[in-house]
Amino acid sequence: MNKPILAPSLLSADFSDLASAFKMIETQGGSAVHVDVMDGAFVPQISYGQPVIKSMRKLSDLPFDVHLMVEKPELMVDSFAEAGADWITFHLESTVHADRLINHIHELGKKCGISIVPSTPLESISEILPFVDLVLVMTVNPGFGGQKLIPYCVEKISRLKKIREEKGLDFKISVDGGVNENNVDEVVKAGSDIVVSGSAFFSGKLKWEY
Ligand code: DX5
Ligand code: ZN
Repeated sequence: MNKPILAPSLLSADFSDLASAFKMIETQGGSAVHVDVMDGAFVPQISYGQPVIKSMRKLSDLPFDVHLMVEKPELMVDSFAEAGADWITFHLESTVHADRLINHIHELGKKCGISIVPSTPLESISEILPFVDLVLVMTVNPGFGGQKLIPYCVEKISRLKKIREEKGLDFKISVDGGVNENNVDEVVKAGSDIVVSGSAFFSGKLKWEY
């Protein structure tokens, strides 16, 4: 088993003191920063966008894994790349031409992730698995931090790991939503290479021990 990495989600950070949030990420085991972008349409809330990410970029050299929970991500990837994203992950459910967008993100020189909500079957991404660098398996319905992990989604992670082995592919598997100190071992065992955590990390309950 490869050593998993932790990507704390900034959504649960104190936005009045981002410098401390980044310090906590860097000293408490974070190897990447998960940056949740919400547009108030694909999901009900609005978080932050390109100018804020550009400013945050000055606070850390860790890779920024930008999780776009937006409609029409194809209109925004250039500006998020410009703002300082290293990885750009978009939702299969948010756009029609996923294949084209994956190519475009790669043309921008960025790593590309595809994400699926709990109700989207793994089969719907089978054709594009050879072309992505990351699959972000949502274990909650996206839109809010602090929700409870949906158990059947963990099984999707283990199935995805098996598919990756069978097809000889090498994308990373990331888990996002409701990961805490009680279930982190389970999601790692299922096959997560990258563990996203917001509320459990920033409340200090999830200690990274991998
Ligand atoms: C949910 C976001 C998550 C969220 C995770 O829509 O994509 O990244 O911040 O937060 P927790 O770990 O609190 O579920
Ligand atoms: Zn996220």
